[in-house]
Amino acid sequence: MKLKYLLRLFSIRFVKFLFFKAPIWRYFLPVMKFDMTIGQLNFMLETINKIKSDGIICEIGVGGGSTSIILNHANKNVNNPRSFYAIDTFYGFLDEDRKYEQQKRNKNYDYLSYRSNSKEWYTKTLIAHGIKNANIYKCDAKLFDFDKIPKIAFCLIDIDLYLPTKKVLPKIYNNLVPGGVIVVDDCSPIQSKYDGAGEAYREFCKEIKHDEDIVLSKLGVIRKSL
Ligand SMILES: C[S@@+](CC[C@H](N)C(=O)[O-])C[C@H]1O[C@@H](n2cnc3c(N)ncnc32)[C@H](O)[C@@H]1O
Repeated sequence: MKLKYLLRLFSIRFVKFLFFKAPIWRYFLPVMKFDMTIGQLNFMLETINKIKSDGIICEIGVGGGSTSIILNHANKNVNNPRSFYAIDTFYGFLDEDRKYEQQKRNKNYDYLSYRSNSKEWYTKTLIAHGIKNANIYKCDAKLFDFDKIPKIAFCLIDIDLYLPTKKVLPKIYNNLVPGGVIVVDDCSPIQSKYDGAGEAYREFCKEIKHDEDIVLSKLGVIRKSL
């Protein structure tokens, strides 16, 4: 038993030794890449945990799935886990949304990122982290019928650009339970490549007479009163 253990340990250390000596080591290290800071992720988990009303968790714009995995932590060790709904094109930004930024918001970027994902890879990433019952939709969030899914307790909107955020926000708000919370990413008032989401957030706050609430320099929060 001891010899078996020592052999295994030696083999693992030997493979790791070779790996870290090879010039490619930094490209193959299993690193979890997050678009959000630990503080921002923690804020969202704490927010979900404080919501008393029933309802699903929804993430619009999921990318490779790192934030989805964290949001699903809110379902660990609870009696009634909330269903998780994910929506993405899984192929980055749509032409009309990119053109809107370029032509109407005078942004000089191509917005061709996030094309290296797929619904299958996202699904498998969730499964590898023990999340087996997620409801995953590959579509334009602007065209998604939010009335066909259960009422929403928490929604992260993370689609960066003005047009999709503007179109989706009222639909989510209409389907939000009293006591529910929407978080819109990229709402810093500082001008940037992805400041369209923030502009849509600020306009929507005005429309529904909700104070702007920017948490941790980035997350635009909307709370529906009970
Ligand atoms: C910033 S990434 C999401 C990152 C993810 N929330 C995370 O924290 O790991 C933005 C995502 O929005 C998706 N997206 C952009 N426009 C969209 C649209 N109109 N409908 C659905 N998804 C869209 C992109 O494909 C991309 O995966």
